[in-house]
Amino acid sequence: MTRSPFPKSPITDLFGIQYPIIQAGMVWVSGAKLAAAASNAGCLGLIGAGSMKPDLLRSQIQKAKKLTSKPFGVNIPLLYHLVEEQINVCLEEGVKIFFTSAGSPKKWTQYLKDHGAIVVHVTSTPELAKKCEEAGCDAVVVEGFEAGGHNGRDEITTMCLIPQVVDSLKIPVIAAGGIGDGRAILASFALGADAVQLGTRFALTIESSAHDNFKKAIQNAKSGDTKLVMKQLVPVRLLKNKFYDQVIELENRCATNDEMNELLGKGRAKAGMLEGNMDMGELEIGQVSALLKDIPTCEQLVQDLISEYHKALTRVS
Ligand SMILES: Cc1cc2nc3c(=O)[nH]c(=O)nc-3n(C[C@H](O)[C@H](O)[C@H](O)COP(=O)(O)O)c2cc1C
Repeated sequence: MTRSPFPKSPITDLFGIQYPIIQAGMVWVSGAKLAAAASNAGCLGLIGAGSMKPDLLRSQIQKAKKLTSKPFGVNIPLLYHLVEEQINVCLEEGVKIFFTSAGSPKKWTQYLKDHGAIVVHVTSTPELAKKCEEAGCDAVVVEGFEAGGHNGRDEITTMCLIPQVVDSLKIPVIAAGGIGDGRAILASFALGADAVQLGTRFALTIESSAHDNFKKAIQNAKSGDTKLVMKQLVPVRLLKNKFYDQVIELENRCATNDEMNELLGKGRAKAGMLEGNMDMGELEIGQVSALLKDIPTCEQLVQDLISEYHKALTRVS
């Protein structure tokens, strides 16, 4: 392995990767192609299992194994009903790195560790991060309010979250939320993070399976075009569109969870992010979208992140 342009990190040793950069697990966006490309570029690529039935997940893992010989992992949101099957498919396929999210770290961590896996749990408050450590996780991802996709209710920004967590935990901390370029990576390290997880930035790459319409919408997003909604049900940061307007209308008249579930229906996220329905699809994306204009390959992106990081380092020193 060649010398990393980033400071030494326990995360690169933990996963056996070159750079302390994780490509976030993302429903409908991070399949085998993106995960393998991110891993081939020196990061840790993650297949986002949340949108996959067990058979599809198995075939995506098999595909990733063909596309890369580097380590990659699987992200499993614990809120779906097929979690047990998904986990067992991963173990049967020899997956050794799990990023769990959207649930209690107590539920699956020990089981996965008993099967020889490395387990990282994603969370959004210092208190929950402590619970991840107590549950035996090898590391935590702490995700600030800026992040795309599902998020916590407490609106803690990455800038406030990271130092609080690193001050109280012994296990490595991976910062997420609003990290879109090398400057933000440097800032995360300055706050004490051991690595970074990037979602929105990797959604806007050639290898991401986001629909072209969705990629164009991300490129055109301005600051203020995303908002955290559905805090009552499952908080999620969305790009504003007609579907978003309807969500706000329901929230403004204090609609019940049943009404919200009815609006959500089935397949909203797939329609938006994978099939490109920009009006009525659910478009999960982070605040940092306002900064992103290009659609690089993962390889190009990583080179850009490194050079931006070093430019920022020179500036502050
Ligand atoms: C399109 C999209 C889908 C996401 N899906 C998931 C998911 O399935 N599981 C998960 O743990 N987090 C998910 N997230 C959150 C990311 O894993 C990551 O933590 C977040 O994007 C980081 O913030 P950033 O978008 O500002 O980089 C998603 C984010 C996006 C943008």
